[in-house]
Amino acid sequence: MDRGPLATRKLRHIDACLTGPVEYVGVTTGFERYELPYNALTQTSLTTIDLGTQFLGAQLRAPVLVGAMTGGAELSRTINRNLAEAAQKLGVGMMLGSQRIMLDSDEAARSFEVRELAPDVLLIGNIGLAQLSDAVIPKLAAALERVGANALAVHTNPLQEAMQDNGDTDFSGSLDRLRQLAEALPCPVMVKEVGHGIGTAAAQQLRGLPIAAVDVAGAGGTSWARVEQLVRYGEVRYPAIAEWGVPTAQALREVRQTLPDMPLVASGGIRTGMDAAKAVALGADVVALARPLLAPAIESPAAALDALEGFVEELRICLHGCGVGDLSALRRLGVTAVSQRLG
Ligand SMILES: Cc1cc2nc3c(=O)[nH]c(=O)nc-3n(C[C@H](O)[C@H](O)[C@H](O)COP(=O)(O)O)c2cc1C
Repeated sequence: MDRGPLATRKLRHIDACLTGPVEYVGVTTGFERYELPYNALTQTSLTTIDLGTQFLGAQLRAPVLVGAMTGGAELSRTINRNLAEAAQKLGVGMMLGSQRIMLDSDEAARSFEVRELAPDVLLIGNIGLAQLSDAVIPKLAAALERVGANALAVHTNPLQEAMQDNGDTDFSGSLDRLRQLAEALPCPVMVKEVGHGIGTAAAQQLRGLPIAAVDVAGAGGTSWARVEQLVRYGEVRYPAIAEWGVPTAQALREVRQTLPDMPLVASGGIRTGMDAAKAVALGADVVALARPLLAPAIESPAAALDALEGFVEELRICLHGCGVGDLSALRRLGVTAVSQRLG
């Protein structure tokens, strides 16, 4: 398997995410400011709660995506395959990590090969906005076809790239390239951040582009400006940059307001089924979680399944506890602001 500089960097990212203090310290997702209205007289039956939903043309059994993580190294293959197996069993979707590495390396493609383990899963490919160019588009189309992806997520990560040794720091013209890509590809294109959040300003810039969904990937979970500093300097040299971003709950509200009809993923610090329930009640179509799945995915397919299953079960109990039988009813119910409740 590929041992070039890109694959080595991927392994250092994984190592930092497993061992380092990579999450926001002072910034939270903001979900703690909301409560689901609990109903002691629920008239639902837990086992018949319907978590099913449509996303990017696929039917999911629960509104959950495995977050984009990795590819390119032997360990990435294990991670992707264990997650894919779990996603197939649970009927949830999965995002692959950046496929940049497989554009030039046939060998690296192996680590993204999960389709035979997950024939029915909504599989979303991945590439960085800063890496788009005319030359990349045909290679990327081939890479998506090779892995059997149903859609593509394009991640925009200016803070991450700015903190990275030799990062791609020129984002000028990238919106035009995003439009060209979305027009050229036969599959739906989603735009995501990597944990610093898409808020009002970015959502306004996405207006009118032929994109199919937005993953807000807000602040409050893994901070990629922190990960890159730890990998590059062995310390967090610019703490204010590591703590910068639009908190996930706020990002969700801002993008929902700016793009009312856009399918939305809530991610960035989604850690519990309760977070997921609040996100859906605030207008998300689905949620995604990345780092919490990393260690279980390295361990085994069973550990990955266990982590995801527990998450989905908690979400189901949340709907039951507020007396709603499905996600549409949860959205209609909404959330209560904690300050409002405490008077
Ligand atoms: C080990 C690891 C690798 C990641 N690699 C990618 C990537 O290749 N492409 C991408 O769009 N996001 C990548 N991410 C970012 C996640 O998809 C997600 O947006 C971010 O970690 C915030 O979610 P979390 O708080 O649940 O971890 C990665 C995350 C982790 C933990």
